[in-house]
Parts: sequence; C-alpha cells; structure tokens
Amino acid sequence: MRSDTSQTIYRNDYTPPAYLVDTVELGFDLDPARTIVASRLTMRRNPDSERAEIELYGENLELVALRMNGKPLGKRDYRIDGNLLRIANPPQDVTLEIETITAPEKNTTLNGLYVSNGSFFTQCEAEGFRNITYFPDRPDVMAKFTVMLRADKQKYPVLLSNGNLIEEGELDDGRHFAKWEDPFKKPSYLFALVAAQLVCQEETFRLKDGRDALLQVWVEEGNLDKTDYAMQSLKNSIRWDEERFGLELDLDRFMIVAVGDFNMGAMENKGLNIFNTKFVLANPRVATDVDYAGIEAVVGHEYFHNWTGNRVTCRDWFQLSLKEGLTVFRDQEFSADMIGTASGRAVTRIEQVRTLRQAQFPEDAGPMAHPVRPDSFVEINNFYTVTVYEKGAEVVRMLQTLVGRDGFRKGMDLYFERHDGQAVTCDDFRNAMADANQRDLILFERWYSQAGTPIVKARTQYDADAKTYSITFTQSCPATPGQPKKLPFHIPIAVGLLGADGRDMPLGQDGANGSTAVLELTEETQTFNFTGVGEQPTPSILRDFSAPVVLEYDYTDLELLHLFSHDSDPVNRWEAGQRLAMQRLLRLTSAVASGGKLELDATFIDAMRKILTDDGLDPSFREQALLLPSETMMAEQMSVVNPQAINAARQFVRATIGTTLRTELMQQYLANMTPGEYSPDALSAGRRGLKNLALSYLAAAPDADAIELAQAQFDNAGNMTDRVAALIGLIHAGADSAAPALQAFYADFEKEALVVDKWFAMQAAAPATTVKAVRELMKHRAFTLKNPNRARSLIFSFCGANPAQFHAPDGSGYAFWAEQVIALDALNPQVASRLARSLDRWRRYAPALQGQMKKALQKVAGGKKLSNDVREVISKALA
Ligand code: ARG
Ligand code: ZN
Repeated sequence: MRSDTSQTIYRNDYTPPAYLVDTVELGFDLDPARTIVASRLTMRRNPDSERAEIELYGENLELVALRMNGKPLGKRDYRIDGNLLRIANPPQDVTLEIETITAPEKNTTLNGLYVSNGSFFTQCEAEGFRNITYFPDRPDVMAKFTVMLRADKQKYPVLLSNGNLIEEGELDDGRHFAKWEDPFKKPSYLFALVAAQLVCQEETFRLKDGRDALLQVWVEEGNLDKTDYAMQSLKNSIRWDEERFGLELDLDRFMIVAVGDFNMGAMENKGLNIFNTKFVLANPRVATDVDYAGIEAVVGHEYFHNWTGNRVTCRDWFQLSLKEGLTVFRDQEFSADMIGTASGRAVTRIEQVRTLRQAQFPEDAGPMAHPVRPDSFVEINNFYTVTVYEKGAEVVRMLQTLVGRDGFRKGMDLYFERHDGQAVTCDDFRNAMADANQRDLILFERWYSQAGTPIVKARTQYDADAKTYSITFTQSCPATPGQPKKLPFHIPIAVGLLGADGRDMPLGQDGANGSTAVLELTEETQTFNFTGVGEQPTPSILRDFSAPVVLEYDYTDLELLHLFSHDSDPVNRWEAGQRLAMQRLLRLTSAVASGGKLELDATFIDAMRKILTDDGLDPSFREQALLLPSETMMAEQMSVVNPQAINAARQFVRATIGTTLRTELMQQYLANMTPGEYSPDALSAGRRGLKNLALSYLAAAPDADAIELAQAQFDNAGNMTDRVAALIGLIHAGADSAAPALQAFYADFEKEALVVDKWFAMQAAAPATTVKAVRELMKHRAFTLKNPNRARSLIFSFCGANPAQFHAPDGSGYAFWAEQVIALDALNPQVASRLARSLDRWRRYAPALQGQMKKALQKVAGGKKLSNDVREVISKALA
C-alpha cells in the first residue's frame, strides 16, 4: 500500500512548520507481524508560521486511534491525503495521542522499522520515521524523545534506544521492557531503536572534561572477536574531535550496533549509531586493509555527526550537504591525522581525488547532475550522492584553504556558538566562516548552487629578461540539467614552480612567501604574475588538488616526467604520473579499436621503474603512483566510449609493465613482505599494498613463476588482504588453479557473510565473467537479492566494475540489469535506485550500444509498480 507521492519538491517552496513538537513519548509493543506504536506528542503553534494546521506524515501505517487534548478525533476532524494527515484549526497548545500498527517482518525496504535476522532495527533518515508513526517528519521539527520498548525477553534480550536507559524490568508473558530518554531535542530522522539478541564489547572512557562515558559495540554473538578495531576507532574519534575542534561527547553513553541488512554504510542516530556490519566487523582473518580503513572512516564519520548533524542539523533536506559534506571533510581529516606522516596524508588525499574522478565527475556530467545543495528532488534518498558527500567535502576543504586552518577553526566555533540546537542552512555555515574571518565569501556560494565540474585552462608565459612568469587561467563549466549557463566560481588554485634542478623556486607573488601560493580565481579569466623567476619553471598547478576541477594545461612529456620525479607536492607528483599514463592509455585504446600496433614507450616504463624502486618513497605512495587510471576514468575522457578497447588497452599496459619490470617487481614483492603478526597500521598496509600491486602486475603477464607466487601467497596468507590479493591474481591470470582456490576460499569462509560478499564480488569483476556466469552465480545457495551487501557484491560489482563484460555488444548485460532493477525495486527501492544509475552515461557509447541501453531503460520505465526512487533516476536518464 505505497501511497503515490511522486511529485517534485522544490527548495524554494520551503515554509516553516505550522506546529512545533516539544516532547514525544513513544511506546512500542514489538512483534514482527504486528507492532503497536503509541505516540503522545505535545505540540504548540509555531510563532514563525502563519498557518493554522497540523501536518503529520505517515506511510504504510494502520491508524488505530487519534486523540487531541484527550478527545477522540473522528473521520471529519482530520483529512488524509496520500502520506499527509491534516488537522485544521487546532488550538494553540495540543496534545496528540496516536496509535498505529505496522508489520516490521514484511518491511523489505529496510526503511523505518524492520526485521533483520530475527531482530528489530530502524533506519529513519531521511523520511523513515513516517513508516513508524504519524509525525511532522521533517528535520526542522526537533523534540525531546522518551521511548518505552516492550518485547519478548528471550527473543529480544537487548532493548536499546537513544540517550540514557532510565528504567527496565519484567512484564507478564515472558516480556520485558526498557525505557530510554534522550536529553537532547532532535529531529525524527535521528530516532532509533534496536530489539535484538546481541552481545557487546564495552569500555568506560574518560572524556576531556573528566566525565566518564560508557562506550559499547553491539554485535551478534559469534562476532565478538571482531569488535576491537571499531572500539579503538571510536575512542580515537572522540579524542580527535576534542583536540582538533574542541568538541566533546555530550552523552554518558554511546552505542554502535552492527546489522547485516542495511541500505547504506551507517547512521548517526543520537547515542545509538546503527552500522552496516561491513563497517564494524574486522579481524585479520576476515578483513582487508581497505576494510580496516573503511571502519575507521565510518566510525569517525558517524561519531563526528554528533556535532555536525545532530547538535546542529539541517533545516530541510536540500541542505543535506551542510551535515554530510562537512562530516565527510571531518572524517577525511581524521583519517589523515591518524596516519600522521606527510606522505601518508598525501596518500589519503590521492584516494579522495580518485573517488572524485571515478564517481563524482561522471555524476556531475550526467543526467542526475545536481548542485551540492540541490534545488529539487522527487525522492530525497536519491540525493545521498557523491556530489552531496564528496564534492560537498571538497567545498568545505576549499573554505579551509581560503581562510587557513586556524581561520577554519574560528569559523567552526562561531557556527556552533550561533546555531547549537538549531536546524540551519548551508548559507548559515558559509556565513559563519565568512564572519569569523572577515572574508567575503559571496561568490563562493556558487559552489553550492551550480552543478557541473568546472574546467580551468591554464596558459603560462616566461619573460627571461624581466624574470617574470605569468599564469593565465580561464574557467568554464559545462551545462547541466536545468542550468544552461554558469557564473564563474571562486576557485583556490595552489601553485608551485619547479626549477630545472627539481626544487621549488621561492615565489614572489602577491606577498606570498614560501614555495606554494594559493591563487584565488574569481573571474572567468585572470592572470597572476610571479617576479624574480630566474629560469623557465615547470608549473605545478592545483597542488594537493586544491579545488574539484578539471585542469587543462598543455604539459609536455618532459615536464610531466620532471614533475613525476621531483614535485615536492606528492599529490601533483602522483598526478603527473596519471597524466603520463592516461595519454598512453587513450592512444592505445584507439590503436586497439583501429587494429593498430600496440606499443608502450620505454620513457614511460623507465619512469615507472624509477618510482617502483625508489626506496626513499613510502610504499603506499609508490603503490598509488603505479596504479593506472581505471577503465571508468578512461571512459570519461573519450567522446565515444568503447569498453572492450579500453579494457584491452589497459590490460596491454598492465601486461607490458609486468613483463618489462619483472625483475624489479619481484624484488619489491620480496622486499615488502610483512612477516609476523598482522597490523592494519598505514605503514604495514602500505607495504602490503605495494607488494600486492607488484603481484597483480606479475599476474597480468602470467608465466609459471607468477602463478606459483600467487598460489603460494594464497596458501600461506596470514591475513585476508594477502589472501584476496592472491586469489584475484589467480583469477585474473586465468590460472587453472583459480577454480579450486575459489572453492577452498568459500569452504573456509562460508560462515562469514562479509567474506562471502568478497567471494561474489571477486568473481563478478573478473575479466572472464560473462553475463551468463553471473546468472549462474545468482543460483548459488548463498545468493539473495534481499540482503543489500550481497546484491551489491554480485550484481553491482558486475554492472559497475566489469565494464567490458557488462557492455557486451549483444546487449545481454543491459537486459540483465533491467531485470535486476525491476526485481530489486519490488523489494527495496533505495537499493534498486542505486543500481538504476549504472546506465547514467548511456549517451556516450557507440550508437549500437546506445540503442540497446535505451531499450533496457525503457523496459524499466515501463514497469508497472515502479518506485519513486527508480522512476526519478530512469526518467532523468531518458530525458
Ligand atoms: N546519514 C547517514 C550517513 O551518511 C546516511 C543515511 C542515509 N540514508 C538514506 N536512507 N539515504 O552517515
Ligand atoms: Zn553522514
């Protein structure tokens, strides 16, 4: 009984709520088939609103009773239109009592109250609370919550909600209860409850002000050996926020709960964070270095939301990046600070740049392009995007670049001073930054309002006689849906100049001292002059990726090689290598397509060799520098995408590196072994990363030695990082031993759901895995569409990480995609809608493929019971 609410909602239509809620008392009688929710709201007229009407949202609810100020309301006292229940002309002060019934076990959407592996969990962001009870379910309505949970004691021994436990005890019939009170007012999207069979690791942790807080990580019984890293990450997060931003934990108790069925990564419910198991559970046997890093980042992210999101929240969902962009920025800084070293920091930065290019730039250039602060949406869940999150974090980072680290802290302090306890807008954040630093950030607003990735073209001129050097920047930004013309952005461009000796030249520019200047581009075209430049420099532009833009500059190979060898800015050093590689990859792609000769120049190989064998560089940096741009990034550079040619060209380069650098790769493989006990620290992970990259290049040009090496590593691996790398090596090498290794891997780990996910994902992304093979894998007893992690591991991995097979010329990949989108949509629209985005870039392929893709899109569009989520994505793709 999904109500049809498929209208577009506009940011400019915002009006304040007519009624505010002061307190909420919720009573839950939990039963999978029939949960009764009793709600008691004290409400009052909002002085900031002219309207005299109570508006409550509700979806998929059976309304049993509704009383206002003690009197039952009859059918004529209220109206229900779609998902809105309206009561006209209520008194100034109102107490509403509402009783509703839901069936959590039937809720496959994992939105609202649902059952996972026999226990109850909730997910209320963005608009899930309305599936639990009628409520003014909007983030600018903040109330104090008291929650009474009642449930069978044996089945659900653990009863949790937000805030503090104030009472618990026994009831009749084997039931028990727990009463929770959250001392802070909060919007409904931060409500959570858990009623489950779980155990916890707990610890008392002394906060900076001397208070003790109880920290808990709740998991299923068999997983108590996998909670240490999440707990450690939580403690690190608390310390970091105290030190870097002076922000303390405001509760006596902070809980993390892991659940196997979860739509996203995790959720920052006040005092009761609920996490996808993927971002909690780890030990060396089951988790890779990447998993460990993910846990640290997500635990940090959700914890940091306690201030940026919970204490100060969003006025409306268009402001989502106010909390998400800022909180991603904070978790990025946290992860970087946890590594500590400058080159470790740079590696985290490089990974962020990779994510932007791999996912955000394509989004910004496609049919779903939207500003960091969108102007409209049909389904808000479609806007939890890399643009709102990662580009949003870049926008915050640019603010820090413009006002400096101390200035940024001042801005944050002012933001909390002004807005603690409020629901505010992106403008409020920008204004706090501007006012705390006496800066004019009016133009900067365009980063929030304009979609699209700006293109910055640079031209340079050196005058040897005058010893001056000038850089002229010209910016533009492609049209995006609904935004044909763009105004210039305020772009901080960090620049250094390298001399022939590879060293940074001192910069005489606008008073800038030191070797990097931050130039502020605010107009379409601007020239910046440097004086006292003794020789023709090599420009290092956009250091540390100081803005999320595409930089176009006609570098010669020689200049790029110079930067790749010497740039003191590690991000631009890496970037030079990426440019060298991309040029070659694109040239080879056309050669493959036209049947030309495939050749890779010795200059490039030598540059790779130099980095590979430079023991003065961190292994993690060398790994990044040697990693080629992905097939998706290559596709973004082509006017007509040819997935098979891209794949062949990239494979050719990988195999050539594997052959020509065989000796050096083997040396580095041996030199970077990490014997002894596994540790996920950055240095050890970096060594494993370089060693396993060496293995993957060796396996790309497989001879008996390479396969033997991979097999030995697989057999003897002391941790999951090495085991997975070895198995991928065997699979990609097409080794005969790949199939038995896969079997052995499954047998060893079939009880570990997150490892079974890896098992599916590795196969889905393997070059030899066809559509047909994926269909076979779907028949495996461990496969199910109902679990989002499992669906992602097989189906999303195939459609996203195996482009050469997914884009099979006969269109079979697209037909498969359409079937799966439709099947998933019937279960879980949020997950289906993510998969629906796989064809976003369909217009960029050759006409034959385009035709097949359009057919598949139309097939989905024609689906009878399409969710708003999927309909919005598909109709924008076809528009
Ligand atoms: N606020 C959560 C986070 O980023 C994400 C929740 C997204 N939920 C959703 N249904 N879209 O930490
Ligand atoms: Zn978040």
